[in-house]
Amino acid sequence: MTSALIVKKEETQTMRHKLQKFGFWDSKRRLKQLSAEYVAIPITVDALSWTDLGLHDRCPPCQVKEVDLAPSKTSRLEPPADNLKRHVARFLTDSGRVVSPELLADLPSHWEKHGDLILFSNSAFTSDVWSQLGSPLWKVVCQCLVGSRLARKSSISADGFRSPQVALLYGDNGWVEHVDNGIRYSYDVTRCMFSIGNITEKLRVGQMACKGETVVDLYAGIGYFTLPYLVHAGAGRVIACEWNPASVDALRRNLHLNRVLDRCTVYIGDNRQVCPVDVADRVNLGLIPSSEVGWPVACAALKADSGGILHIHGNVTSKHPACNTHDTDDLDHTVTEDGQGHPTFSVHKTAALMTQLNTACTCNNKHVGRCSENTQEGGALIISSEIDRCHFEHSRSNPKHSNSNSKVKTKVDRRNVSCNKKLRPEWLSWSREVTVKINSLLEHGKNTWTVTILHIEHVKSYAPHIDHLVLDLDCRPNI
Ligand SMILES: C[S@@+](CC[C@H](N)C(=O)[O-])C[C@H]1O[C@@H](n2cnc3c(N)ncnc32)[C@H](O)[C@@H]1O
Repeated sequence: MTSALIVKKEETQTMRHKLQKFGFWDSKRRLKQLSAEYVAIPITVDALSWTDLGLHDRCPPCQVKEVDLAPSKTSRLEPPADNLKRHVARFLTDSGRVVSPELLADLPSHWEKHGDLILFSNSAFTSDVWSQLGSPLWKVVCQCLVGSRLARKSSISADGFRSPQVALLYGDNGWVEHVDNGIRYSYDVTRCMFSIGNITEKLRVGQMACKGETVVDLYAGIGYFTLPYLVHAGAGRVIACEWNPASVDALRRNLHLNRVLDRCTVYIGDNRQVCPVDVADRVNLGLIPSSEVGWPVACAALKADSGGILHIHGNVTSKHPACNTHDTDDLDHTVTEDGQGHPTFSVHKTAALMTQLNTACTCNNKHVGRCSENTQEGGALIISSEIDRCHFEHSRSNPKHSNSNSKVKTKVDRRNVSCNKKLRPEWLSWSREVTVKINSLLEHGKNTWTVTILHIEHVKSYAPHIDHLVLDLDCRPNI
C-alpha cells in the first residue's frame, strides 16, 4: 500500500504539479482513478506527516489514504537494490529512525532467490537496528524483492558436510524448491547447500549416455548429479553416498519427487567406509576444491573386470607452480615448448611423491600411437604428440623403473584433448597429474590399467585464476 492524496478528477493535473513542485509526488507509483469523481495521486509522505506538515490545512478538501498503486514505468526501470534502499529509507523515517549512510550501506546490493525465499550474503543487514525493527521491516523488504521469506548466510562451514551457515530472518522454515532442467530439487537452505553454479555440469551429466549403467555418486548431497543420471541419462542404478543427515533427508525427498526412488540406493556415512567395491561403470566425484580423498574409493568402486569412467572434480589455479619457469629448482612440474611449439608437460616426481605412489612408469605400446622411453632421464615416459588421447600405464611390478629418482615426462598435443573452453596449460598439467595418480591407484598386484583422458570440462571460474574443472577419465584393465 502507498500513501495517496485523493483529489477530484478535474483537479488531478493541478495537484500533481503542485506536489511535484514541493517534492511530495511519488513518481515511482502510478495514479489511480478510484471512481468517476476521484483520483488517487501517490505521495511520498503518509497521512500523519501530511497533517504534521500542515499540508492538510492548506489543502482541506484533500484526503490522504493508503491505496494499492501499481509501480510506474520509471520505478520498473529502477534497479531492485535502489528500490529496496528507497523503501527501507522511507520505512526508517516512518519509524522515527535516522537514515544514516552507514545503515544504507548495510543494505544488500545482490541476493539469491530460492523460490519465494530471498537469501542475503553475510555482509548485508549486519546492524542490530534491523533485528530491532523486526517483522514490519522484513515485510517491506519482502514486498520490494517480491518474496515471502528472508534468510542470511555466512560462509559455508568447515564441518566436512559443507553445511551452509544460514539463519532465517523472516518466515517459519527454510525448505525451498528449485527446478533445473525439468528436475525438482527441494532442500532446507538452513541445513544443506545448493550449488547454483554447477548448472552446466548438471546439464552435461543429463546428456551422458548411461543407459543401464551402475553409477556411484560419491558426494551425492541433495542429488545434484544423482538426479540427472537417473532422470535424463538413463542410468540403471545410482549408488548415492552421503554423510550429512540433512542432505540425505533432502536427497530421499528429491528421489521421491522425481519418481526415481526405486533406482537409487542411498549409502549413509563416510564413503570411504560405506561405498561398495567392484560395482560401478561410472563414478562421480563432485567435491571441490579437491576430490582427492575419494580417489582410492572411486578406483575400488569401478568394476574390476571391465573398469569404467571417472568424473573427477577439482579446482585448478592458473598460478600453478607449473607456470613459473623462474623457480624450477623447487618445482615438481615444468611446462616447456617442444620443437613445433606444442607445450610439453613434465612431471618431475619428487621422492615424496614417488614414495606415495610407489610406482614408476612403463610405456604401453599397445595403447599409444607412438611412444618411446627416454633412457637418459631414467625411466621417463614420453608420449608422442601424435596420439589422439593421453594415456598412461604404470606397473609397480616392473623393477626396471622402480627408481625413486625417475621422472615422468609426457608430451601430448593439446589440440587432441577435448575441452569445452580454450584449454589452458595448467588444466592439462593438472589432468596429467591426476591421471598418473589414478593409474597407480588402480593397480592390483600385477594388473595394469590404461587410463585415458576423455575430456576436460570447465565448470566455472572463481576470481582470481581458479577454475572448477571436471576431468573425465576412461579406466580399463589390460587383459
Ligand atoms: C560439494 S557438496 C555436493 C556437491 C554436489 N556434488 C555438487 O557439486 O553440487 C559435497 C557433499 O559431499 C558430502 N561429503 C563430503 N565428504 C563426504 C564423505 N567422505 N562421505 C560422504 N559424503 C561426503 C557433503 O556432505 C556434501 O553434501
